[in-house]
Amino acid sequence: MSEHTLKPLITKEEIEHTVRELALQISCDYRESRPVLIGVLKGAFVFLADLIRHLSIDTIIDFMQVSSYGSDTVSSGMCAVTKDIHVDIRDKDVLIVEDIVDTGATFHFLLEHVRARHPRSLKICALLDKTSRRTDGVTIDYCGFSIGNEFVVGYGLDCDERYRSLPGIYALKNK
Ligand code: IMP
Repeated sequence: MSEHTLKPLITKEEIEHTVRELALQISCDYRESRPVLIGVLKGAFVFLADLIRHLSIDTIIDFMQVSSYGSDTVSSGMCAVTKDIHVDIRDKDVLIVEDIVDTGATFHFLLEHVRARHPRSLKICALLDKTSRRTDGVTIDYCGFSIGNEFVVGYGLDCDERYRSLPGIYALKNK
């Protein structure tokens, strides 16, 4: 097992504050609706769980899982759906909830897949955005934090299934 150094990047308190603000904005924008929130497994499960507990609107929750092929720390852009949604989203307002958007390739694929089900509206909420890495023109409607080009773990995000349970977000360096 390789050893890593973890550099603190975003604290638990900063995440809590930002998740509350995102929830406030989403509750306001969807006050006339009952949106379907689609959490993208596995990384977004912690974020989604916190987010929905700060919403003041009613929602429907479902999950999708997409595998993107690549190494531990670099995604290749080749994707496949490994778990699909069960809820019928036709003519519904849909908000996809992601942990992180890197190049945007995974999201581009996801958006096409979800759009084919004819939702009334489709928006994206991502806790973290590596803006400088974007190659796929994906724009995020609700963004928690913009971060630089570094691999991060914690708060649901992993490296080879490690570090998901950390309450804050850390930049991961190889020793
Ligand atoms: P993209 O297709 O390049 O946008 O990569 C998106 C996916 O790669 C995310 O959903 C994560 O699963 C993973 N990923 C990208 N950057 C990181 C990171 O810094 N930490 C953990 N996972 C990451």
